[in-house]
Amino acid sequence: MKETDRSYRWQPELRRRSGSPEETADVARELLPLLNAGESLALIGPLGAGKTTFVRALMHALGYIRPVRSPSFTLVHRYPTDPPVVHVDLYRLKDAAELTALNLEEEAEGALLIVEWGERFSDAWGPPDRRLTITPLPGQDDHPAAQPGGNDTGEFERLIVLERRLGG
Ligand SMILES: Nc1ncnc2c1ncn2[C@@H]1O[C@H](COP(=O)(O)OP(=O)(O)OP(=O)(O)O)[C@@H](O)[C@H]1O
Ligand SMILES: [Mg+2]
Repeated sequence: MKETDRSYRWQPELRRRSGSPEETADVARELLPLLNAGESLALIGPLGAGKTTFVRALMHALGYIRPVRSPSFTLVHRYPTDPPVVHVDLYRLKDAAELTALNLEEEAEGALLIVEWGERFSDAWGPPDRRLTITPLPGQDDHPAAQPGGNDTGEFERLIVLERRLGG
């Protein structure tokens, strides 16, 4: 078994605030040049943090004009962009055996692999080359306007941090 995520060291590469999905898309465009074919990116953050929103923007920045949906049920989407992108969501995965069945290593060969809930089973699929952590800033998601029936503009402040794995 490989070592766990915790045993790696991470170097911050970029740190941004995003006040809206559009600003998250700006961040995606900004860091696209850092992401390479054959590498992997773990997306970390709670439900609704904006992980899929980020990937959607990245795909659009790569010229993909068709809808980009969350792979939360389908688990793996592959896009024929340059570089190709394999977009995975591990939230609903029950165990490492299910991960093995996805055959990610082969599936993602030559592609940029992006994994939502990438901290899950990272000793089975990782370690990723980079990780992007999206953190809703305090008080943002329990704001009264965010409740059902509230006057929700749907735009909340996020902290977005990109880190690169050192060595190992
Ligand atoms: N600053 C922001 N950046 C990104 N999304 C935001 C921001 N503010 C509000 N949102 C909203 O938050 C939601 C994020 O949903 P998204 O599906 O991208 O989250 P997720 O992290 O992929 O969730 P899940 O863990 O369920 O896959 C969207 O409705 C989006 O419009
Ligand atoms: Mg998602």
